[in-house]
Amino acid sequence: MTQPDPNTSIDLNVCKQLVDEACLVAQAAYAPYSNFRVGAVVLASSGKMYRGANVENASYGLGTCAERVALAAARVAGELDLVAIAIACIDASANGPVHGKLPCGACRQWIQELAPNARIFIAGQTESFSVGDLLPYAFKLGV
Ligand code: THU
Repeated sequence: MTQPDPNTSIDLNVCKQLVDEACLVAQAAYAPYSNFRVGAVVLASSGKMYRGANVENASYGLGTCAERVALAAARVAGELDLVAIAIACIDASANGPVHGKLPCGACRQWIQELAPNARIFIAGQTESFSVGDLLPYAFKLGV
């Protein structure tokens, strides 16, 4: 993040710290099948950060994404107000399209459920996103 993003009031240094932490935790990913390591850090209004990385499995469909690991950690710690999530795909090509670094569809639905107000920061991107930007018309049960 090289410039302030006008779409968020979150302090630029905090954004940078979140993205840096997401890059760091991505190194803990278990991704021997895809060799595509992802880190995610969720910031709660308490000021605490919750980390996740993708964890794959020989039975490919059982792997889980970094964002869902971090969101679940925040939720089970009792955090109900999540203000930001930073995501780092450290093996994505640096000048590749942003689509290769954004959360997958399932993770967008998880963000909608557990962190609907969180600002989404992507390592290597100046622009940040709301979940509504990434998942308009998200599924909501019984509305
Ligand atoms: N992955 C994530 O961790 N988050 C996403 O939003 C997209 C994909 C992981 C899943 C799999 O381990 C690897 O990246 C390749 O798809």
